[in-house]
Amino acid sequence: MTARHLIPLLAGSAIVLANQAFGADDDTVQRGAYLARAGDCVACHTAPGGKPFAGGLPIESPFGTIYSTNITPDKKAGIGNYSEAEFAAALRQGERADGANLYPAMPYPSYAKLTDDDVHALYVYFMQSVKPVAEQPPETDLGFPFNQRWGISAWNWLFADADTFQPNASYDQLTDRGRYLVEGLGHCGSCHTPRGFAEQEKALDGDSEDYLAGANLNGWWAPSLRGGDDGDGRGIEGWDSQAIVDYLKTGRNAHATVGGEMTSVVANSTTHLTDKDLMGIAQYLKSLSANPAGDGATTADQRQQATDETAAHLQAAKNLSDGERLYIDNCAACHLDDGNGAERVFPPINGNSLANADDPTGLIHTILAGAKPPATPTIPAQLPMPGFGWRLSDDEVATLATFVRGAWGNDGGAVTADQVAKVRASIDDAPLDKAVDPNGELNHDDGESHAANGAQ
Ligand code: HEC
Ligand code: HEC
Ligand code: HEC
Repeated sequence: MTARHLIPLLAGSAIVLANQAFGADDDTVQRGAYLARAGDCVACHTAPGGKPFAGGLPIESPFGTIYSTNITPDKKAGIGNYSEAEFAAALRQGERADGANLYPAMPYPSYAKLTDDDVHALYVYFMQSVKPVAEQPPETDLGFPFNQRWGISAWNWLFADADTFQPNASYDQLTDRGRYLVEGLGHCGSCHTPRGFAEQEKALDGDSEDYLAGANLNGWWAPSLRGGDDGDGRGIEGWDSQAIVDYLKTGRNAHATVGGEMTSVVANSTTHLTDKDLMGIAQYLKSLSANPAGDGATTADQRQQATDETAAHLQAAKNLSDGERLYIDNCAACHLDDGNGAERVFPPINGNSLANADDPTGLIHTILAGAKPPATPTIPAQLPMPGFGWRLSDDEVATLATFVRGAWGNDGGAVTADQVAKVRASIDDAPLDKAVDPNGELNHDDGESHAANGAQ
């Protein structure tokens, strides 16, 4: 599930509270607004170009298209008649006010961890500060048997964890807070944890080594978030906590620039979290033991040596392969001969998780359509990568991508022209990348975004 195809991007916004009808105390409303950011409610509950929280986002699942619902406090179209207990049941048990089960496209298996206090603050925020919108989103209508919502009870019984968060004294307070945010509101596992035979996340918390071990999201690899230093040092295993904080805050750091569905997570959610909460998240991820290094895993020294060799060969520019020539002609000006780019301007593609992912879809997508990092309050300017789909054929992209995945310290597999053709065909229905401001207005950016159309 949770293949979120059409995700509105946010061009940075402050939380300004409007519409305080019944004068609940401001602190609770503000806390609820912050928690709604941490839970990224707006990303799923807003249709492209639609009103914030009014629902209607189509979410592709293996069972068909599921539409998010209107969670504004409108009494007919939204959740205006939900009591706090009903709201809590929807969030933590996936139970609608009329008793029907919600589809797990709503991340209640993660939100089950929420404390009563936080559910209360969210409820106050939604009821008192979100503007009611009287618009009915399209009904979800899955075919039989998936339209039988009672069937979800068995799934819940097997896979959903009803326990609320229990503090764990073996973590310091900040790291434990990070654990709460990651496992609970952040629902990071809904994209980063591999799924089992019934589309369930294989684990919902750090007690299992499957948790956050990396997963394929419609082809785009959501890398492992297990940051321990006991693996081969790739991905966030090689990042320090501050680098994780920078990535979540600004969408970039010395190792990577955000792409794919993570762009919306950064823009709508993590960039709005406090540095302290982000540090808690980072420390928690670093506390998770690394994925076991596979056979043939390389060491950092070996990868450095391979990097030097590729860079020297590109510089000498003699006897170049087709892939090497394509790289020099199209990519090296920005990502350089060593594939390491220039810090915070051009991300490294040497050692980069996207370049090395088992499934090359994300890399192909980036080469064809380009990419644009999100504007965040701390770094509003965005230097996009241009797309090369208009000038490179499927064969050329395949040859180039194969080179990139095997160059320097990388060890991804070869790419075929067929794979490129498939990704190229999917890019035509490029999503809108307009922003959502939960306070009501759509944020119109500078229009430059269309250069990167489909990057998301
Ligand atoms: C990953 C996508 C996603 C996120 C994130 C998400 N939701 Fe949902 N939510 C859904 C979908 C899809 C449904 C409708 C499911 C269905 O129809 O069975 C839903 C349903 C609901 C409902 C039931 C409403 C009704 O129709 O009666 C409530 C309440 C709700 N969500 C609140 C929230 C809140 C609060 C947050 C943030 C803390 C949130 N959701 C975050 C996808 C999401
Ligand atoms: C004009 C400069 C420029 C050129 C030329 C260029 N890129 Fe990029 N590239 C960027 C920028 C800027 C980004 C960061 C944008 C983003 O990811 O949102 C980027 C991002 C990437 C990423 C994603 C990295 C990550 O961390 O997610 C990959 C992979 C990549 N480029 C590969 C290539 C390849 C292969 C070529 C040659 C076809 C190429 N680039 C040409 C500037 C460039
Ligand atoms: C909607 C799906 C989704 C959710 C939810 C999500 N992620 Fe991601 N995440 C991705 C994808 C896809 C990528 C790969 C991005 C790329 O290729 O540039 C990614 C990349 C990352 C990376 C970079 C890893 C690397 O090796 O480059 C970090 C760190 C990260 N996510 C942290 C988080 C955290 C923390 C959360 C929860 C607060 C979270 N993500 C929730 C989809 C998601």
